[in-house]
Order: sequence, then structure tokens, then C-alpha cells
Amino acid sequence: MSIPQRSRVAVVVVAAGSGTRLGAGMPKAFVPVSGATLLEHAVASIRRMEHEAQVIAVVPADRVDESRALLRSVAQATVVPGGASRQASVAAGLETLGDDVQTVLVHDAARAFTPTALFDAVVAAVESSGEGAVPGLPVSDTVKRTDAASRITDTVDRSELVAVQTPQGFPRAHLVEAYALATEEVTDDAALVAAAGHPVRIVRGDALAFKVTTPADLVRAEQLLAASSLTPSAATVAVPRIGLGTDTHAFAADGELWLAGLRWPGEAALAGHSDGDAVAHAMVDALLSAAGLGDIGTAFGTDDPRFAGAHGEVFLSATGELLAAAGFRIGNVSVQLIGNRPRFSGRRAEAEQMLSGILGAPVSISATTTDGLGFTGRGEGITAIATALLLPAD
Ligand code: CTP
Ligand code: MG
Repeated sequence: MSIPQRSRVAVVVVAAGSGTRLGAGMPKAFVPVSGATLLEHAVASIRRMEHEAQVIAVVPADRVDESRALLRSVAQATVVPGGASRQASVAAGLETLGDDVQTVLVHDAARAFTPTALFDAVVAAVESSGEGAVPGLPVSDTVKRTDAASRITDTVDRSELVAVQTPQGFPRAHLVEAYALATEEVTDDAALVAAAGHPVRIVRGDALAFKVTTPADLVRAEQLLAASSLTPSAATVAVPRIGLGTDTHAFAADGELWLAGLRWPGEAALAGHSDGDAVAHAMVDALLSAAGLGDIGTAFGTDDPRFAGAHGEVFLSATGELLAAAGFRIGNVSVQLIGNRPRFSGRRAEAEQMLSGILGAPVSISATTTDGLGFTGRGEGITAIATALLLPAD
């Protein structure tokens, strides 16, 4: 994959720390939460930014190859080895900025659940002001100053304080200059840029941009994803995603055949609680499965009397709405129908047009027989197998 060198924005994701306080026995960015590493979660959120950004992942030196492989499916990323301190790691990332980059965001991989909207907001603030912008939240606890013996010496006025997060964004020239001038170690980039004499403003942060630091933060992260997996979305999973669905129906003694969204006069009907449209049902399962939204039974309760006799179109358009609400766009759906009847080829174009129209995405259908073998060969029923590809919504 080629790296987008012409991006105007770059995000340096620092992931080279050892995660001592987490104590997971591996570098923090490689700790999995709900099946993906913190690094993957962080990059997945960046990948959905409004403007295509150059993503620079700074990782432990012995994990460069592994990280490249890990990120390949998430985003096009430049992967470089980090240094002994966070500051050294950021500096390593800055070495690889593309020529056209004007705005640089620095982000902790440990803030893996930072919403994409915060990245976009920081970019917008930097670009509109020409100054650094960092997300911050008001401090809710009362803050005390103490002496060496842990005695309180005074109470700090909370209204003057903000807890800052990442991504921290800066005009490229400010950040590069600040790093060139840096003489001491600091824990965030805003401090260096301010020390170099450039203004930095606070934009509204987000509680979801919390940093995974201790085991309790990891529990919080797991709970967060468990809750959001009940309503998965393109914001919480890596896309593209594929899904598979199959459906089988027996021929019925009477009724009319509905298949691939079309009525087939004179053909034997299929049995089923709804209209028995195996093609449409396999497509729905493939689409829901790709999104991680369950299947046709869990999504629509196909035993529900409201769906008695419902046509495939009802399920397909409802599925399209569920996917859109979860932030997905359908790439395409491919279906194969297996059975002796109806002879499909004569109406293939009509069926493809009908189903593509319902979903707003290309649907292709092939049909085959099983050489007289099995229940389809004996003409007892038909099966359909579908695959679907989902992309992030535009
Ligand atoms: N970081 C880095 N290179 C370092 C140290 C830290 O890239 N040498 C990154 C971490 O991977 C993390 C971010 O800076 O994403 C914030 O640092 P922190 O939360 O302190 O992470 P760790 O240093 O890994 O954790 P700990 O301090 O508990 O060891
Ligand atoms: Mg640290």
C-alpha cells in the first residue's frame, strides 16, 4: 500500500511506551481490548477523519514489523521505531512527515477510544486559528497542593485548571521548531510549543479520550466496548468488513413464489413464516453479520407476527437503515442461488436491478444446480448463499 504523502494533515500516534503502570506483561499499545489492540483502536478512529491524514505510528523498535502487519487492514500507516521517552518517540515520528503536511496532531495510542470527531475538531481549530489546539476538560475534583510530608499546604483554584488530553494539534512549523529547541523532558507537546513561544489554545475535550494507564482503565475500556458492541458501529470496528449468510427454504404445496425480491407467477412457492425469499434472507444475514449486528432473527424477530408474509424488500430496506445508523455503507452484495427452479437467468438483470435499488449498492446474483444431488437436486427446495462487503459511511 502506498502511504498518502500528499496529505495536509498528519497524526503521529505514539505507541512505544512500555506500559509499566498497566503491568500487562507487554507494551501497552499491544494489549487487546475486545479483540483488537489499543493501537488498532486508536488508528481505526483516526482513519475515519474527515480529511485523509498521514498516519505515523511510533512503536517499540522490536515491534515495527508486527505493527505494520497489524495496521495493514486498518489504515495506510508509516511505522517507525520510538525512543526511550515519549518526547523522543514523538521526535522520531516527526522525522517522517510528508512534504505537504501543514498541520500535525500528536496522539497517545493509550487514548485508544478517542472519538474521530475530536481529531476533526482539533484540525479545524488549528487550521482556523493558525495556533496550537489541545483538548481539555474541566477538573472535577478539588485539587490540593501538599508538602514533602503529604500535608496540605493550600487548595488550588479549580476554575483555573484544565486536564489536557490528546490529540494535540499544531501548525507544523511550531511543533518542529519546539522539538528542535527542546532542552528538557515534558509529558505533553503543548508544553514544548508554549516554551518555544507559540500560543496554544484549549478546545473542548471528550471523556472518551481517557488514557489507559492502570488496570482499572482497561476494565473501563472493556466495559465501554462491551456496551457499544450491543450497537456496533463503523466507529468501533475496523472496516471494510465482510459477512456471509445462507438461507434454505422448502417448496410449499401452494402459494406464489417470491424470490430475489420478484414475484414468479406459475412457479412453486417456498414455505416460510415470511415469503420464503431465500435470496433476500441470505443477503440480510450477510449484511448484518458483516456489521456484527446479529442475524435476521435477532434483528427482526422473524417469528414476530408483523413479519408474517413480509417480502424480502421489507427486511432489506430495514437492514439498510440499521447499517446506515451504525455508520456503514454497503460496498456490494454477491448472492448465489442453488436449485433447479425457477430458471433464473431470464430474470437475473431484473432481480439485480430490484435488489440494488433497495440497498443502494450493487447486488449480483448467480444461479446454479447441484447435478441432481441432494435436496436441491431432488427439487425439494432451494438454498442461497450471500456475501456482503461493508465500508465506512462517507
Ligand atoms: N510513549 C512512547 N514512547 C515512550 C514512552 C511513551 O511512544 N518511550 C507513548 C505511550 O505508548 C503512550 C503515550 O506515550 O501511548 C503516553 O504515555 P504513557 O501513558 O505514560 O504510556 P507508557 O509510558 O507506556 O506507560 P507507563 O508510563 O505506565 O510505563
Ligand atoms: Mg510513561
